[in-house]
Amino acid sequence: MKHLLSLEKLPVADFEKILRDAVVFKKERGAHHTQPLAGQTWALMFSKSSTRTRVSFEVGIRELGGNVMFLNANDIQLGRGEPIKDTARVIGRMAHGAVIRTFAQSDVEEFAEFSKIPTINALTDDEHPCQVLTDIFTFEEFRGPIAGKIVTFIGDGACNMPVSWIFAAAKLGLELRIAAPKEFQPSSDILKRAGGRIIVTADLNAAASGADLLYTDVWVSMGKEAEAAERIKILSGYQINQKLVKLAKPDALVMHCLPAYRGKEIDAETFEANAETIFTQAENRLHTQKAVLNWTVS
Ligand code: CP
Ligand code: NVA
Repeated sequence: MKHLLSLEKLPVADFEKILRDAVVFKKERGAHHTQPLAGQTWALMFSKSSTRTRVSFEVGIRELGGNVMFLNANDIQLGRGEPIKDTARVIGRMAHGAVIRTFAQSDVEEFAEFSKIPTINALTDDEHPCQVLTDIFTFEEFRGPIAGKIVTFIGDGACNMPVSWIFAAAKLGLELRIAAPKEFQPSSDILKRAGGRIIVTADLNAAASGADLLYTDVWVSMGKEAEAAERIKILSGYQINQKLVKLAKPDALVMHCLPAYRGKEIDAETFEANAETIFTQAENRLHTQKAVLNWTVS
């Protein structure tokens, strides 16, 4: 039984297979010769908002021959306090796979354990593995192998996105630089667990210098709304803008997992100048999701 719960636990060979298959799923969209989810019904159980992840999984599951059922966590008994392990044991007896977006990483892990069906982490407070798989696929589509390249993450360096990048970096042999104020730097425990070449600094200019990819994410992640004013104050300045782009390599890519808040983590001019990359990255969620789904059932 395969689950995608965390990039930390994804073997390198599987990482590479998913990336290779995503290329094929993109090229053969509309003409897939296999329907790996034929006869299956997958449950999407989401406790947080989503545009890209929800749409890419719903379309992807259907295009691979499966049926999909979207469950807003507030509309099912989970929202009224039914334990995750009971919910998992019910859904696991009816559905063939689950895609879960929630708060605690332990909830996704518990769901996988008790449901006994392939379970995919569609974002938790700790990780967003599907997004980083897509990001790497997108980088390689534009620029070739990411091994040996410099990826600079600017902003909230302790949220799910940089953490998934941290686990990817060591496995794929890229240099990851995280530029964040000290309040929002990743924990030393995560850095130790991941290994690899990771530089954490508060100096965003040094981190951007010579980078192949500048990457950012929102300053206020879902679930952190109560801290919004303080976060905006502390993170102010940790922005991808034209001044920062000039420090990176001349052909550096700029990416954003979206949704974007112009004037906060990225300025409007830089966002629009890189819209083709950013929306290709968004589209690539679909192709990568298919590769992930196919991997879980093969
Ligand atoms: N990037 C991403 O996961 O977007 P959604 O929150 O819209 O799914
Ligand atoms: N860090 C962001 C990612 C959104 C895709 C969040 O958790 O809200």
